[in-house]
Amino acid sequence: MRSRTVLLRFAALLVGAVVVLTGCGARPGGAATPSSAPGPVRAGAGVGVGKPAHAASDSGSLPRIAVLATGGTIAGKANANSAVGYTAGQATAEDLIKAVPGIDKVATLSAEQIANIGSQDMNDQVWVKLANRINELFAEGKVDGVVVTHGTDTIEETAFFLDNVVSSDRPVVLVGSMRPATALSADGPANLRSAVQVAAAPSARGRGTMVVLNDTLHSADDVTKTNTTSVQTFKSPNTGPLGYVDAAAVNFVQPVPQRRHSHFPVPSAPLPRVDIVYSHSNMTADPVKEALSHGAKGLVLAGVGDGNTAKPVLDALSKAAKSGVVVVRSSRVGSGETVRNAEVDDDRLGTSAAHFLNPAKSRVLVQLLQANGITDPAKVQEEFTTRY
Ligand code: DGL
Repeated sequence: MRSRTVLLRFAALLVGAVVVLTGCGARPGGAATPSSAPGPVRAGAGVGVGKPAHAASDSGSLPRIAVLATGGTIAGKANANSAVGYTAGQATAEDLIKAVPGIDKVATLSAEQIANIGSQDMNDQVWVKLANRINELFAEGKVDGVVVTHGTDTIEETAFFLDNVVSSDRPVVLVGSMRPATALSADGPANLRSAVQVAAAPSARGRGTMVVLNDTLHSADDVTKTNTTSVQTFKSPNTGPLGYVDAAAVNFVQPVPQRRHSHFPVPSAPLPRVDIVYSHSNMTADPVKEALSHGAKGLVLAGVGDGNTAKPVLDALSKAAKSGVVVVRSSRVGSGETVRNAEVDDDRLGTSAAHFLNPAKSRVLVQLLQANGITDPAKVQEEFTTRY
């Protein structure tokens, strides 16, 4: 169903300029969603919401947004003795907020420091602490949205994890930057302002966890980092961006999903071990054996092409699958669908196809499935088909 959704999303995007302008955006895979305003879906004015971009919360005051900081380049500071080097995770949540003039006109902010690390060091303990705090804030009813500041290296994984364990429909927006706070034309302050605008926008509700950088808004399931240094690094290769942010408004170009997937309970740390096996030419099954020798409960193939790999590796993966390890085929290619039973006979091997999820996000979903006792291949395949 999900792959049909993505293809339909493409169709919706291709004709979106016409369809949305005519006021009937069809959410891929769902019934037409009448838009209440022609043109781009402006925050609050789009898809049947009708409130201004910075609508007050129920109390009539500014929206209340919690900023939870975890580190990353957005909190990075240059090293005095280096022209290009910097250290991530130096500035605090309060420092980041102070660097954005006028942000107090967009929302009433609270700040908390969950961690202060480069996201290459992101770990299950921080994930669980972050997820529990977000659910607690929403359950208390004291915030209208949450912004998480985060390194860009693994932001897509954290966003996908939160998208599957946060139990509220209020917005969670992850934001980072490609330049440290001390850099010429640092992008962090503008990105943080954008993130607060999105989290404060009534039209952001019901869209799951999102990522915003460089004025562009992405969904957790499709966003991925595509360039090591460019500020325009984040793309949504299969569906296109969710929307765009400018100083005046949040403009969604995709309607609110007709149906969001259910969420898992927040697991305890550490999550079950799931390893990614990266495929390449002339490959042996050694990486599969190595992962299993370290107790991997799940394996994700970052396959060549349509999630394929050398026969000895497929044989080893099938043997693992038939011994109870969850095995999912994804692709190193970066866009497109890993199709079940196309080049690889998943029925025979006992494996599942990741559909549109990349290897890093497939790993997160397998961890969550394992943590919830979902290991039957048919049930695993159903989850991959419906959670994208
Ligand atoms: N250390 C990397 C991280 O925290 C830098 C990348 C960044 O945040 O932009 O993800």
